[in-house]
Amino acid sequence: MAAREGMALVDRDEAGVDRAFRADVLAGLRQAQKAVPARWFYDDAGSQLFEDITRLEEYYPTRAETEILEARSRAFAMAIGPGRAVVEFGSGSSVKTPLLLSAIKPAAYVPLDISGGFLREAAARLAHQFPGLPVHPVEADFMREVALPASVSALPKLGFFPGSTIGNMVPRTAVDLLRSMRLTLQADVGVQPMLLIGMDLVKNPRVLIAAYDDAKGVTAAFNLNLVHRINRELASTIPADALRHVARWEDDLARVEMHLEAVRDIAFEVSGQHFAMQAGETIHTENSHKFTRRSGNLLLAAAGWTPRRRWLDSARRFSLILAEATAPRNAP
Ligand code: TRP
Repeated sequence: MAAREGMALVDRDEAGVDRAFRADVLAGLRQAQKAVPARWFYDDAGSQLFEDITRLEEYYPTRAETEILEARSRAFAMAIGPGRAVVEFGSGSSVKTPLLLSAIKPAAYVPLDISGGFLREAAARLAHQFPGLPVHPVEADFMREVALPASVSALPKLGFFPGSTIGNMVPRTAVDLLRSMRLTLQADVGVQPMLLIGMDLVKNPRVLIAAYDDAKGVTAAFNLNLVHRINRELASTIPADALRHVARWEDDLARVEMHLEAVRDIAFEVSGQHFAMQAGETIHTENSHKFTRRSGNLLLAAAGWTPRRRWLDSARRFSLILAEATAPRNAP
């Protein structure tokens, strides 16, 4: 059944519409503050636009994190040691992974991703680049506990979660994820799992806003692509020309929010249902939380992880934290 290839996790109706996408959009647009979950950004066009974002002058997180991975390879080797299975959560195209794998002499590499196409391509590339390293891709939604392949069950694990993706979740969801990661990474051996996680840092809001509202308008195009996708896939009539990209810093919550703001009163249909927006009203599409040393440590501790080491890039914009699962009995 060739049609199943690469879409094993997508449930479509008779017309080929992704049921979860439609349900999320309709429920999100019915709310007082309209919102669409950010996971729907990443169709093919959205994934390409996101790759373009990571190369923008204003978007420093990718370059800052890569700098840390390049500069600190010896420190990683010392702090992590050899022989762990590296489990990457949401591996995507896995561009940062070779830097980590060549630093630490791992026993296996297990990329997890919800998109099977990306996953198999990246796994093949890594296997070629690291001959002798067992690579076991797993197509899975990493927001839930994942059963890892039996061949790595006895190995101690290192989770890898770069890109400050943890900051795209509200704290409650972030804690749920960090806890389920800890369960996923638990091995049949008496060695605690470790986690290497990227967290972007609180800084001057002007620098933050620029990273999410670039001069070339690539991030705006990324945000608006969601509207085009809704119109294309959900039989919708949202006037994309009446929505503009907005990035704003919410200081109390320490996050950049992305919205689509109506520039005039509009009315439209999505899958046969009617919606309206007044000028100035927004659809909330993404959060990117920023961390301090203490807020990052607290988030990890809340999920049963003890921070052990922390590295910054030379301009001190971004952090990589190495944490170890907290042993159950070491709390007062
Ligand atoms: N985790 C990254 C960040 O928040 C990536 C990201 C998610 C992003 N959504 C985005 C980057 C929208 C730019 C625009 O920075």
